[in-house]
Amino acid sequence: MSAARAIELFSSPAFYISCCLPRCAGHPLAAPGLQGGLWLACTICRTMAAENGLPPPAPPEEPLVVGRPNVLDVEGFLKDITEILSTRLLTNHGPFVVRLERAAAEYLGVAYVVAVANGTIGLELALRALDLAPGAEVLLPSFTFVATAHAVRNAGLKPVFVDVDEATHFPTPEMLARAATNKTRAVVAAHLWGRAGDAASLEAFAAARGWPVVYDSAHAFGARHADGAFCGGRGRAEVFSLHATKLLNSFEGGLVATNDATLAARVISTRNFGFAGQDTIAHGGTNAKLSEPHAALALRHLRCVDATISIYRRVARAYGDALRRRGLIPNLVTYWNEPRLDDERDTHAYVIVRVRPAFGLNRDAVMRALRDRGVHAKRYFFPGVHKQRPFLDCPALDLETTDALNSDILILPTGTVVSAADVERVVAALCDVRDHRRDYAAAPPLAPREFDTSHYAAALRTIGTERDALRVRLAELDRAEAALEKDRAGVVDRATSLCL
Ligand SMILES: Cc1ncc(COP(=O)(O)O)c(C=O)c1O
Repeated sequence: MSAARAIELFSSPAFYISCCLPRCAGHPLAAPGLQGGLWLACTICRTMAAENGLPPPAPPEEPLVVGRPNVLDVEGFLKDITEILSTRLLTNHGPFVVRLERAAAEYLGVAYVVAVANGTIGLELALRALDLAPGAEVLLPSFTFVATAHAVRNAGLKPVFVDVDEATHFPTPEMLARAATNKTRAVVAAHLWGRAGDAASLEAFAAARGWPVVYDSAHAFGARHADGAFCGGRGRAEVFSLHATKLLNSFEGGLVATNDATLAARVISTRNFGFAGQDTIAHGGTNAKLSEPHAALALRHLRCVDATISIYRRVARAYGDALRRRGLIPNLVTYWNEPRLDDERDTHAYVIVRVRPAFGLNRDAVMRALRDRGVHAKRYFFPGVHKQRPFLDCPALDLETTDALNSDILILPTGTVVSAADVERVVAALCDVRDHRRDYAAAPPLAPREFDTSHYAAALRTIGTERDALRVRLAELDRAEAALEKDRAGVVDRATSLCL
């Protein structure tokens, strides 16, 4: 874009009104009287003004990373911090938390939103509010971040892992049916990557058995269900993460969204030590409060979340164009986002490719080679929650798709800091890796020692051999016992006959 064109565009009131105001409704810089050019200070507005709708590229020497936080409307946030410090209302359900809860409930179209310290504790509190018996079994996918399983455990419940569908990365009713037992009492499912899974089928299956469903919607703020409603209102609760890496972030934080007044009330008191009134502790609790600065940043980011989502969508589309133009899809990689690039229900909060065998290198070798080129792509959920030490004792049957996904998906950088040129840089790096695949083919797989499970297999084999030997010995003892028993009966018989 030429300088003259940029000045013309930036100073055009028509552009400001059509592009900035609707997307940044509530933005302080959009308030009447404050417009005079100040709006350019907002990253979102600046981004919308860029010719291709994406931000300026990162300097070539800067690595491109997954999960680089969105930091938007810094000026507004600093104003909020000044207010928080001057009022000394730092935490304990202050005005920013109250405003955040109201604004998020209104945006999502749900009755209640409870702000909490992070998504993990939000999930735990939602599960605790179900009042299930300790040790009750909960079906959940292994293909999720470990926080989902920790939350189930921390709520005193037993995780039972199920597989996910290859196309949706969400569990199907058939998968739940295979893992269910007579101790199953609830289901937790995760809407991954900014896309909602098939909640209607899952809930129909669970409802028929009387099981409540709680959603880990950590990735799904702004995503919509099949019926067009925002994630947040399904199941007994949907829990969002506001972690720094998320599309909507507040440094750390979480939101429990629900239409269930009883569940909301329970989460509200549990997050505050179980207090019911001034002096009464009604039940067990913890400290899961969100502080005022955290809430203030979430509110600032919420005000421009529609613009943020449109940037993620543009980045996802730019990846699709570049991957296809350079001939990487469909044969060398599969682009998970591709089938729904035009679907307004997906936020494309994550950009995912699967490395196909035709690439000539496995995912870990590709990841390592990309890193050499300044692209820090990530493997997610590797090696699988069901293979992590704290969950080795949990049932985990038939997780074939989970294992395959854990071994070949690669998450690429996205977000409001990723420009069109950055996307080209990532895809060019992928092509370069493919062109030099012979240099990397011999590289050992990236398997940290703690993820090596071969010693478990060896220990299980030893136990199996010992159990077989004991079974043989037990059979011998049974036979000896039976022989002695027979002898003794003979002696008793003879003695009895002598006495008669
Ligand atoms: C799928 C999933 N669930 C749960 C969480 C936990 O959220 P938090 O980091 O806010 O505790 C995350 C966070 O990254 C996540 O990706």
